Amino acid sequence: MENNNSKFYFKCKNCGELINSFKDWFSHGQHCPKCKTNRVDTIYTGNNDEIKKFITADNNPQSLWHYFDFLPLNNSKNIVSEGEGVAPIERWGFLEDYAKRKYNLSLEIFINRNDKSFATGTFKDKGGSLAASVLKEHGIKEYVVASTGNTASAFAHYLAKAGISCSIFVPENSLSDSEAHIATYGQKLFRVKGDYAKAKKVAADYAKKYGILMTGGNLDPLRLEAKKTQVFEMLRIMGKIPDVYIQALSGGTGPFAVEKAINDIKSTGLVEKLPRFLLSQGHYCAPMAHAWAEAKKNNFPDGYENEYPIYKNPKVLIPTIATGNPGMYPLMAPLVRRSGGEIFPVTEELAVDLARLVAYEKAIKIGPASAAGLLGLFESLKRGLINDAETVFVNIGESAGRALDFLKEVAYTSETISSVDDCSRFNREKYKDFVWEKFENYDKL
Ligand SMILES: Cc1ncc(COP(=O)(O)O)c(C=O)c1O
Ligand SMILES: [Zn+2]
Repeated sequence: MENNNSKFYFKCKNCGELINSFKDWFSHGQHCPKCKTNRVDTIYTGNNDEIKKFITADNNPQSLWHYFDFLPLNNSKNIVSEGEGVAPIERWGFLEDYAKRKYNLSLEIFINRNDKSFATGTFKDKGGSLAASVLKEHGIKEYVVASTGNTASAFAHYLAKAGISCSIFVPENSLSDSEAHIATYGQKLFRVKGDYAKAKKVAADYAKKYGILMTGGNLDPLRLEAKKTQVFEMLRIMGKIPDVYIQALSGGTGPFAVEKAINDIKSTGLVEKLPRFLLSQGHYCAPMAHAWAEAKKNNFPDGYENEYPIYKNPKVLIPTIATGNPGMYPLMAPLVRRSGGEIFPVTEELAVDLARLVAYEKAIKIGPASAAGLLGLFESLKRGLINDAETVFVNIGESAGRALDFLKEVAYTSETISSVDDCSRFNREKYKDFVWEKFENYDKL
């Protein structure tokens, strides 16, 4: 390896080959030049102990670029940023009260909100910012993205900001609000007749045909390294790694990134082990959850991680997290297992009820994929997967900003009237039982 880049390099996780820089990585088609795998580790040459300086309570970071030393960009003048990656991590008392009231558990429940992320209101803004910055650093002017919606919106935004043309391929069922957001930036949106797997295929063909660089999927260092910073944020804000990490699972970038961060800083003594990954999938497209349940029933036989169903054109209510061909399962299942976690389905219809509850209790509008993540908490409690006195972190990834049809379903108080005689006096309290009803009875559903 010729080392003209002192900050970081890549190491193939399969054969150990070293790759010097993004320039080399891109020129090899984002694969190891020797064994052709796309699984590489991003390794920083600096001292990992330095992270301690950045995670103290008196830091007031403006964006994920607070962690510049731990991100794969050489020159800070190439940063394309909009205050992403420092979305609030908050304790939500109404959930802690619920866990106590219904299950007699005293928990600390932290919610990582992303609805406030400045660019597109999703946790994909982090990846968008890092990708745009790295592409800018390498003078790249065109890029291809395949996404169910949120990555598409984030990349469309940040690449537009960097003056980079972004061709985006979304599946037929991706939310129309997402489409409107993307197209507004003057980036190109191709709605592909078919499911997410088909959209990825057409995107790859397009990238090949025109010789354009394309997002590398869930293991793309650009996405992993950006999302890795959520662990630094846990340490900065919570002062610890939680016992449990809950998130809606599609391809798995989030959990993979948590593992990467923990590996990076293990030597510092700041963290001892992985959180238990308790990952939810919408029940209309839950191939990993189904594979997991089957493997568990059979006591995880040899090679269990290679047995999974593939769903073509799944009909779902939450398309943002619907990955019918779970190509990441062979890596995700062993990670979840190492962590002591679980993968399970949650009922997609309940997303509307949960969004109502959150809006009632917190005055926050969450999107459907966020609701699927938070439903993971209710399901985990019901399944007895959380122990007394544990700290729980729930990553809810999006606002309702690109799901306005969903929001219309969530709204429930409108009434059309002709005169004041039609209006009975309003008291917000009367809706409390209504918004709580499904969750008070969740254990019986
Ligand atoms: C809001 C939201 N939650 C969860 C996910 C799933 O992310 P992961 O790639 O970590 O499975 C996505 C990805 O599309 C998302 O947009
Ligand atoms: Zn290799």
